[in-house]
Amino acid sequence: MVALAACTPDQANPSPAAAEAQTGSPSPSPTETPSVTPAAAATSTPPSPSPSSTAAMQFSLTDPTSPWVVVNKHRPLNPQNYIPADLVQPAIRLAVSGEASHLNSTTAAAAEKMFGAAAAEGVVMALASGYRSYTTQITTYNGYVASSGQAAADRASARPGYSEHQTGWSFDISDGGGACSFQPCFAEQPAAVWAKANAHKFGFIVRYPWMFHEITGYFYESWHLRYIGIEAATAMAAKGIATLEEYFGLEPAPDYL
Ligand code: DAL
Ligand code: ZN
Repeated sequence: MVALAACTPDQANPSPAAAEAQTGSPSPSPTETPSVTPAAAATSTPPSPSPSSTAAMQFSLTDPTSPWVVVNKHRPLNPQNYIPADLVQPAIRLAVSGEASHLNSTTAAAAEKMFGAAAAEGVVMALASGYRSYTTQITTYNGYVASSGQAAADRASARPGYSEHQTGWSFDISDGGGACSFQPCFAEQPAAVWAKANAHKFGFIVRYPWMFHEITGYFYESWHLRYIGIEAATAMAAKGIATLEEYFGLEPAPDYL
């Protein structure tokens, strides 16, 4: 059994969940080419504008201040102890306090729009965990190792310096108190269903989709959203590209190097 509640900052009682259940049919596989050239993206150099490229070439894949920074098991944050300079608390329903109620300012503004749109359609959505410092991730990750062992921890929680939460570009949603928070059954809750269908309109993707753990390194986290901008998120949705690794032509990162 593997703990999936990776993103909850409360590690006092991490609940085991059936990650092994992800043995069914994968979600539609990406079949189209990424909108950036693999060769250009794979170097991880800041993409330079090109008349022949799409607008998808405009941001760095390595700079943590970039909305396109790709952080995975092969790509730690640089610097390791990066702290966003523009952390703010968004004006949305909060299910958490302290640093975890903060996001970088761009993500916060987009979250406000998305949460407002969800609410207008009767969908209750709450911020369950946002920014997480390097120091906090040490505690979070070590909690998983202590409760589930390192192998299980690595399938659910990023090691310190390897979490998107440290960038301020990611956050976890809940429905404000339901029993499925951070659990596999959250995928069937209205907040997750709505987010999966609509998040791209606000610049977000579900960063760890169903059955893409061999690419992302993590099992399905229906609650973990990542801001990459409306244009890129909409392009991924339109092209059926599920992961940032595929979109930017980067190597899969199932395990740490
Ligand atoms: N659960 C995600 C992978 C994190 O810990 O950042
Ligand atoms: Zn998360």
